[in-house]
Parts: sequence; structure tokens; C-alpha cells
Amino acid sequence: MFNSQPCISSVLVVHGPNLNLLGLRETGVYGFETLDSINDSLNKSAARMGVKIFPIQSNHEGLLVDAIQNALGLHQGILINAGAYTHTSIALRDAILGVNLPAVEVHLSNIYSRDDFRSFSYLAPVVIGQISGFGKQSYLLGLQALVHYLQEPSK
Ligand code: DQA
Repeated sequence: MFNSQPCISSVLVVHGPNLNLLGLRETGVYGFETLDSINDSLNKSAARMGVKIFPIQSNHEGLLVDAIQNALGLHQGILINAGAYTHTSIALRDAILGVNLPAVEVHLSNIYSRDDFRSFSYLAPVVIGQISGFGKQSYLLGLQALVHYLQEPSK
């Protein structure tokens, strides 16, 4: 039978500053899950959906901009937790706009229930949607939402 599903295979997963410290860092807020374990779970979930993920983490804004720019032609979508750059980075927002790839923003913590400055996201207006407050599940839900969007952009 003819399969008319668009071929989607690859999602760039961008982890921003300090997320390499997950498991040690402010465990009362972020829990004990490490970045490796989040990436493992994302990998498994992606495999079940027939998708590949390519995680990167950096503490440097310019490297994150480079990674987003390099996604063009390689990846079909972006899952991003920009960490603190969420609240400061016009450069990351412009990079997402520049590549014009569908992106989903995720946060482990509920950014609306913490310090006031965390309630503002430079990325929110340029992503398809945002998931915040569910720990590791934010990433898994975000990946599901992104893959669903890539398969059926209009729904
Ligand atoms: C975070 C929330 C940000 O405010 C914070 O700077 C982070 C992590 C989250 O996943 O909850 O580094 O993005």
C-alpha cells in the first residue's frame, strides 16, 4: 500500500546552560534525574515513534545558536530547553526564526510559579508550543507533541 506519511526522522534536542548539572543541581526544583537519563528516555520514546534524536548541551549561547543553525537540512524539528537563556536570549529566538524549523520549548520546572523573571520567555512566541513543570515528562511530552506536529502540521 502507498504510504503518504511525510518522511520524518530526525529531531535536534537542545539543552542549554547548567542542564549538564541535572541530578546535582537544585534537586528540590529539578529532581534527581540526570541529563543522560533524560536523553536515554527521549531516545527510547523517539525509537518507538520511528524518529531519531540528536541531543546537544552547551553552556555557551553562541554554540547553541550554531547548533540551531546547523539543524537546517539535517533535522526536521527542534526540542529545546534553553535553561536561563530562555529568559534572556534574543539570539536563540532569532536562530529559531532563522531556520524556520518547528520547535517545542520545554522546562522541567514550572517557570510561571517561580521567580518573576522566569515567567518571560523570548522563545515562546516563536515555537509551536511550550511544556513546563512536569520534570522529565516535559521533554517526553514535548517530543511527542513535536513528532505529532511534524506528521500532521495542520492538526
Ligand atoms: C529551566 C528553567 C529556567 O528558568 C532555568 O534557568 C533553568 C532550567 C527548567 O527546565 O525548568 O536552567 O529551563
